[in-house]
Amino acid sequence: GAPRPRVTFLGTGYLGATYAICYAELGYEVLGFDVDADKIAKLNAGEVPIHEPGLDELLRRNLAAGRLRFSTDIAETAAFGDVHFICVGTPQRADGMGADLSYVEASVTALAQQLTRKALIVGKSTVPVGTAEWVEQLVGKHTPDDLGVEVAWSPEFLQEGFAVDDVLRPNRIVVGVKSEWANAMLYAAHKGVFDLAATEDREVPLVVTDFATAELVKVAANAFLATKISFINAMAEVCEASGGDVTQLARAIGYDPRIGNRFLQAGLGFGGACLPKDIRAFQARAQELGAGEALRFLHEVDLINLRRRTRVLQLAADLLGRRSGPAGPDFSGTRIAVLGATFKPNTDDVRDAPALAVAALLAKAGADVHVYDPQGTENARRIAPELCYEASINDAVSGADLVCVLTEWADFRNADPVVLGELAAGRKVVDGRNCLDATLWTQAGWEYRGMGRP
Ligand code: UDX
Repeated sequence: GAPRPRVTFLGTGYLGATYAICYAELGYEVLGFDVDADKIAKLNAGEVPIHEPGLDELLRRNLAAGRLRFSTDIAETAAFGDVHFICVGTPQRADGMGADLSYVEASVTALAQQLTRKALIVGKSTVPVGTAEWVEQLVGKHTPDDLGVEVAWSPEFLQEGFAVDDVLRPNRIVVGVKSEWANAMLYAAHKGVFDLAATEDREVPLVVTDFATAELVKVAANAFLATKISFINAMAEVCEASGGDVTQLARAIGYDPRIGNRFLQAGLGFGGACLPKDIRAFQARAQELGAGEALRFLHEVDLINLRRRTRVLQLAADLLGRRSGPAGPDFSGTRIAVLGATFKPNTDDVRDAPALAVAALLAKAGADVHVYDPQGTENARRIAPELCYEASINDAVSGADLVCVLTEWADFRNADPVVLGELAAGRKVVDGRNCLDATLWTQAGWEYRGMGRP
């Protein structure tokens, strides 16, 4: 077939590192760029900076095959690539709402200034709608007209813990383009994904659209997922008030294929690097565009989500017989085991993690908190150094008056409540993710409280 373009990924964080490695695996010649020399050295040495199943092996294999390397040299990056993917972070601004685009601006400017031939710059980072147009202007300002450098947008939808598969086998590819050349170039840059699908007898739907729609697809998808989670957590609140059981309710409504059973797990709510910040940035952008009213419900989605944390504190106070003052319950003199720190299982990511937030709230309210997480301890220690971290479930639970399960790791689900009951000082458990077998725990003598369950 036609020769494949050489591709670069600017920014080797979660997104860029995963993409660079997976695209090499698909057979592309790949260069990953980052300003962080330490990260680049590690990657070149075969060390993945994040915990993501399967990624280490792919990194080493593709480094060895000579298809993949990493660099801090922007001129080299500019010279290498036919297609440059912008994968830098777009964190929440200091004002807590909009997205900070300074990394996008810096990387695009630096790249554009070094380009000496026609190339395609493709945005992948999650950005406010309108950013692609702005990037196009920025590129125009920093490259001579006769080079004909073009811009496109192609959002990604990868989930932590499934990132490798989500990149190699995406459930769709969305591209926002302005010219046939950009469309063809981007198709060639994705051809490896379509080819792999063909060998596995699958199809990857391709949506070709304009800049604004491509940008919106990403935030709309995340807003929908966040809304689905908050919807079921709102139902949990109603169940709590009425004696219903949200887990059965979710199962029952999920059988309707129009609703579907995924992302209907009621519990401590959503966290992570994407959903919370994306729904806030989306609201801020809609406000700027004069469409704020349309997204007002996302504010409620956010509030419902945050209320789940207070609910865990309430359940803990109930079980421990602590009364709430105006500042919330007082937990001084109690020892609480917190199982889970990451924002979901199978990751070491603790960014905006509800589990860690609750652990910190419990500690602030006077509890002696002992946290155990199978992967997230190192990162958690950095963000919440005031907490005490344990090396095992048993260590955390030993002597605890109360156990709070706040991330649904398989290790916690599979833990034996009889054994843990012998270690704990009090057999009281808050199941913040509805992931334990309530009957089993109750039979082992535990006082059990779930979320949205009687
Ligand atoms: C999300 C999107 O799924 C992904 O498409 C996008 O590219 C990035 O953001 P991720 O942040 O990896 O991915 O996590 P996800 O699996 O979506 O979970 C987000 C949060 O929602 C987690 O804290 C999880 O515990 C919570 N969640 C998820 C629920 O509380 N209930 C559910 O039913 C599902």
